Amino acid sequence: MADNAEHAANAEVVTRRRFLSRISLGLSALAGAVVSVPILAYLLSPLLQPGAEQWRDVGLVENFQIGDTVQVAYEDPSPLPWAGQTARTAVWLRRDSETEFNAYSINCTHLGCPVNWIQDAELFLCPCHGGVYNADGTVAGGPPPHPLSNVPVRITDDQRVQVLPVTLAQTMSQS
Ligand code: FES
Repeated sequence: MADNAEHAANAEVVTRRRFLSRISLGLSALAGAVVSVPILAYLLSPLLQPGAEQWRDVGLVENFQIGDTVQVAYEDPSPLPWAGQTARTAVWLRRDSETEFNAYSINCTHLGCPVNWIQDAELFLCPCHGGVYNADGTVAGGPPPHPLSNVPVRITDDQRVQVLPVTLAQTMSQS
């Protein structure tokens, strides 16, 4: 009789523990969803609703030397209201001839860190995990899965260089 009562008490404890465990798991899943949904929506929104093209002026053609690769900064065309200084972004721009420019995203295609141009080696290096890119943006080594994104460049009638920004989400989503 005493055994039956003890057994029933143990079963009740196990059932209560299982119930509390499930409640805990459910609340954890709910908290995870609450945190991750806005982040995913932010990351995917440029893909779902691409903004209008907004060329960014980066200076006069004559300001760039043929053969030089320089970092040019501009305001993010669609910054978050609280972005502050982070709304300022950049691309790597190279003048290849009198009339030809090429530009590359500053964001590594591995996890998005800003890459550096090393003039002597003629390579882009990513400081985060050692990603290496050739001068044309192709992957030379390390974890990056894709070349650096090419950034469209145009020269206006009044001889100004403009770039069409590539968002971090676009860089990370290339296939
Ligand atoms: S973010 Fe560039 S190698 Fe990882």
